[in-house]
Amino acid sequence: MIKILGQIKDSKLPDVETERLYLRQRLVSDAEDIFSYASLPEVTWPAGFPPAESVEAEAYYLENIMPKRWVEQKVPSGYGICLKGTNKVIGSVDFNHRHADDVLEMGYTLHPDYWGQGIMPEAARALLEVGFNLVGLHKIEIECYSYNKASQRIAEKLGFTLESKIRDRKDAQGKRCDLLRYGLLKSEWEELSAAPDKLN
Ligand SMILES: CC(C)(COP(=O)(O)OP(=O)(O)OC[C@H]1O[C@@H](n2cnc3c(N)ncnc32)[C@H](O)[C@@H]1OP(=O)(O)O)[C@@H](O)C(=O)NCCC(=O)NCCS
Repeated sequence: MIKILGQIKDSKLPDVETERLYLRQRLVSDAEDIFSYASLPEVTWPAGFPPAESVEAEAYYLENIMPKRWVEQKVPSGYGICLKGTNKVIGSVDFNHRHADDVLEMGYTLHPDYWGQGIMPEAARALLEVGFNLVGLHKIEIECYSYNKASQRIAEKLGFTLESKIRDRKDAQGKRCDLLRYGLLKSEWEELSAAPDKLN
């Protein structure tokens, strides 16, 4: 079940409800909850960025840098992930890069307390639905490091195809690894949505 609650306003995506989750925009008032996972090296480095240094730095990012990115990089706002019935942000799922007018890349991070429960596939499916049906995207891509098995598994579970393996690049800490790029076309998403048992 994916329930989209409204329309896009400027670059702000509407809230979405799924079986277990409520996805909404991240606010400055979420800074402390977000800092609790965005400060963890095991969360941020595999996602390609350094840990947040303080709650204040996280609040500054939410208030100033994040909205500026929507304008400068022409990406719509992403989502904070809350378990239904709570208002606590435990992760994020975003569009983080625009490759062409109608091709965006997505990224995701989740607090380790919630890993392994299928939360990110559930949240990411909601972003795919919004991306293809409201934003009007043709294709969505995911890039991940070759050692990031959890992220590769997410891409597989969502029905993405592995399109390229760029050998011997460096991760955000300078460690050599391959870079994997996955892609999902709108037509493939529609096919998979009509026959969800094709997904594992
Ligand atoms: C990637 C991440 C969002 C996954 O979220 P999640 O909600 O725990 O995802 P899932 O519940 O589907 O579990 C991950 C899957 O990967 C598998 N997995 C995890 N680590 C693995 C490993 N080392 N080797 C093989 N498979 C692994 C799990 O078994 C599970 O698959 P399954 O459901 O078939 O058993 C979370 O691990 C995270 O925040 N990681 C740090 C940030 C990050 O790497 N972001 C991605 C950047 S590209």
